[in-house]
Amino acid sequence: MSPEFYRLLHVIGVLMLFLGLGGVLAGTRDGGKTPPLYLALHGIGLLVMLIAGIGYAHKSGIGFPSWVIAKIGCWVLLAALPTLVKKGLLIRPAAIALVIAVGAAAVWLAQSKPF
Ligand code: HEM
Repeated sequence: MSPEFYRLLHVIGVLMLFLGLGGVLAGTRDGGKTPPLYLALHGIGLLVMLIAGIGYAHKSGIGFPSWVIAKIGCWVLLAALPTLVKKGLLIRPAAIALVIAVGAAAVWLAQSKPF
């Protein structure tokens, strides 16, 4: 598969992740369970974007510089976020702000490759 295919897949995974996070963080009106669709989008999106991100870094010859490692750090944070909210370690408004900040940092890292 071409590097461009991995890159497209990476962005599709990112879209799935953020859609899933939106659903998870929206909560339910009656405080019930999160609809499984959003949990699935979160999990599958994480998997797709990680595999595609690593695939692109490898196939395009970028390799694994520090900015890619920092992006993996962003990925870990967004993976853990629903659990942190569920356990009461992070309040919902703070979680929403964190998702935007961490997502922005990951995009900035890809664009400017600062280190
Ligand atoms: C919060 C998580 C992440 C977000 C929001 C994110 C978002 C993005 C976006 C928007 C791009 C630009 C795509 C394009 O220009 O077509 C990109 C590129 C890239 N991402 Fe991610 N990404 C994340 C995590 C990761 C992870 C975990 C990896 C690696 C394991 C990774 C590796 C890459 C690579 C190698 C590129 C290509 C940079 C280039 O064009 O030279 N990303 N990412």
